[in-house]
Amino acid sequence: MTSGTTLPSGPAGRKRLHVITWGCQMNVYDSGRMSDVLAPLGYAPADTPDGADMVILNTCHIRDKAAEKVFSELGRLRRLKDASGGRMILAVAGCVAQAEGKEILARAPYVDIVLGPQTYHRLPEMVAQAARAGGAVIETEFPAEDKFDHLPEQSAPQGVTAFLTVQEGCDKFCSFCVVPYTRGAEQSRSAPTILAEARRLIAQGSREITLLGQNVNAWHGAGTDGAAWGLGRLLRAMAELPGLGRLRYATSHPRDMDDDLIAAHRDLPMLMPFLHLPVQSGSDRILAAMNRKHTGDDYRRLADRLRAARPDIAFSSDFIVGHPGETEKDFEATMALVRDVGFAQAYSFKYSQRPGTPAAGAPGQVAEAEKDRRLQALQALLRDQQTRFNAACVGREMNVLFTGPARHPGQVAGRSQYLQPVHVLGVPSLAGRDLPVRIDAALPNSLSGTLVQERLSA
Ligand code: SAH
Ligand code: SF4
Ligand code: F3S
Repeated sequence: MTSGTTLPSGPAGRKRLHVITWGCQMNVYDSGRMSDVLAPLGYAPADTPDGADMVILNTCHIRDKAAEKVFSELGRLRRLKDASGGRMILAVAGCVAQAEGKEILARAPYVDIVLGPQTYHRLPEMVAQAARAGGAVIETEFPAEDKFDHLPEQSAPQGVTAFLTVQEGCDKFCSFCVVPYTRGAEQSRSAPTILAEARRLIAQGSREITLLGQNVNAWHGAGTDGAAWGLGRLLRAMAELPGLGRLRYATSHPRDMDDDLIAAHRDLPMLMPFLHLPVQSGSDRILAAMNRKHTGDDYRRLADRLRAARPDIAFSSDFIVGHPGETEKDFEATMALVRDVGFAQAYSFKYSQRPGTPAAGAPGQVAEAEKDRRLQALQALLRDQQTRFNAACVGREMNVLFTGPARHPGQVAGRSQYLQPVHVLGVPSLAGRDLPVRIDAALPNSLSGTLVQERLSA
């Protein structure tokens, strides 16, 4: 990209920006930051793409049909762009843009901007260039500069719960996964910049912060004292920020749970007792083929150590069924691990061949019907565990961080420490408060309860 471009003139004319977000929590965070970058150019958020001056489609490449999904959405957006007389700027961002940028421009030449996840800070220049040249702009290299050094400090408020990216990229190269290719090498932000962003989020009303990274527990950065910190140390510093009530981090790799991080679960009451710790499989043979570099028993021991540190901790995980080479016996080992560890919640997927990843061309691809059967069996077991976990909450008193009005009038919604949605009768002004609630009923995916009044009036 050429330097010295003039930016489109500022907030004089208010423009409408609509962002469509697919994929993981980091994409949600990124969409917010792209809006922040464009705000000084006069772009304000719009709820729908109809009549928007600019639409960004923030994409995910993790499982199959990712590209087809993008092209079908682009077809829909093209009609809106045509209706605008071609004035609407159409940008494709995220992991499909990174992986298939050139193909997007070839198949959808009406797209104005294609940008990978590491170039969001350059959006204003790209918008200027697209407006000037009337041709497409593509930015999918991994630039030498760190985008976090160039993103604006100013950010739109995220609400009671907020995401904060502290680490990006992945060096693990699991056999099945595109992330190391779409997000690039592991990079950690420094503790002072993270803490400064956290302070701004708290000043804007956030009470819970989730530190994000593709491998968040691999975070290692310069501390406020200049020493090299790990995630445990960073969490301890976060816990000292006045006004913050709850802390979480996601997503973690079992191999990066070091002693200090486990100790942080023991020492920090505000670190929520709920950990998303993907295991993918319970078979040592498949874990090796996946390049996960740990065994099923390593994971069991890790869960035990975390439970010893924080007895009320509950786990969530990701599973893949039908990785190349997975036999019925391997699948049974996954079922056994699930029974042994016990999960409060989980995501499970059929293995999906991703172009360019080692497993895509591996022998022993599993038949689709077999993957379906295994997925159904696994999901039945996981659903049963989730139901039992939720049912065990009934009659208990749990802390709920209220986020805002619930769907039913007169009810207010919030999240338990285990991220379960909880509804109670109450006024929406409770938003931002973390209060004890007696759980009265468990629904399949949420809980309902009653405020514990004595403490409320205290
Ligand atoms: N960094 C995280 C996971 C990121 S991707 C980790 O190490 O676990 C989110 C989830 O998508 C993965 O945990 C995995 O379960 C699933 N996934 C990734 N690639 C996949 C593929 N090719 N097929 C099916 N599921 C996949
Ligand atoms: Fe993908 Fe593995 Fe990296 Fe997770 S650790 S992002 S699954 S390569
Ligand atoms: Fe998807 Fe990229 Fe996130 S592939 S899961 S958006 S890192």
